[in-house]
Amino acid sequence: MLKIGIVLGSVRQGRNAEAVANWTLDFANKRNDADVAYELVDLADYNLPLLGAAVPEAGQAEAEAAIKGWSEKMASFDGYIFIAPEYNHSVGGALKNALDYLKPEVANKAAGMVGYGSLGGTRAHENLRLIFGELQVADVQTAVTFSLMTDFVNMSEFNPADYHGANANTMLDQVIAWSGVLQTVREKNLVNA
Ligand SMILES: Cc1cc2nc3c(=O)[nH]c(=O)nc-3n(C[C@H](O)[C@H](O)[C@H](O)COP(=O)(O)O)c2cc1C
Repeated sequence: MLKIGIVLGSVRQGRNAEAVANWTLDFANKRNDADVAYELVDLADYNLPLLGAAVPEAGQAEAEAAIKGWSEKMASFDGYIFIAPEYNHSVGGALKNALDYLKPEVANKAAGMVGYGSLGGTRAHENLRLIFGELQVADVQTAVTFSLMTDFVNMSEFNPADYHGANANTMLDQVIAWSGVLQTVREKNLVNA
């Protein structure tokens, strides 16, 4: 059984990430992929501190539990789909901070991206590909790119055009294929710490 985590890459109150992540999970589940399980992972559930920042003593146990929980959850998957909106032509700060906690947990695993923004979140995706290179995450070629102008009403009510389904299918096919074969690579322990 391949486990694929669908990671909500925004913690902003009122975020569009929830609707896009739910659409992605629903779309993926409806494919009935054999031996593949999809699961939502919500960054907002972890409340991660900024990496390396001092945490007040009263909150230290909670922060440590959050970091451990995030690390273990991400380690449990064979591949990922990152729900990644564009912030200032780049990946949002919350997702970047969360990724900075990881390395062996995600190495030699596959990732696809679903984005949204004025240009479909594409600049966030290109930025993420640089980060994935360092984390040894194998990002697939096809991404799903929702427009804030045409796939949302008033930039806040998600109403995606049907044609995105073709890219979503290709992206999922690619993530599943690479998630499967990369299991062999992980058995060889090819991770630079
Ligand atoms: C600080 C900030 C910067 C943003 N910069 C961009 C940008 O450079 N390009 C873009 O297409 N959208 C930009 N946006 C719009 C976001 O992509 C949009 O608000 C999106 O819904 C954010 O994801 P979220 O609602 O899941 O948090 C920006 C939004 C914020 C709050």
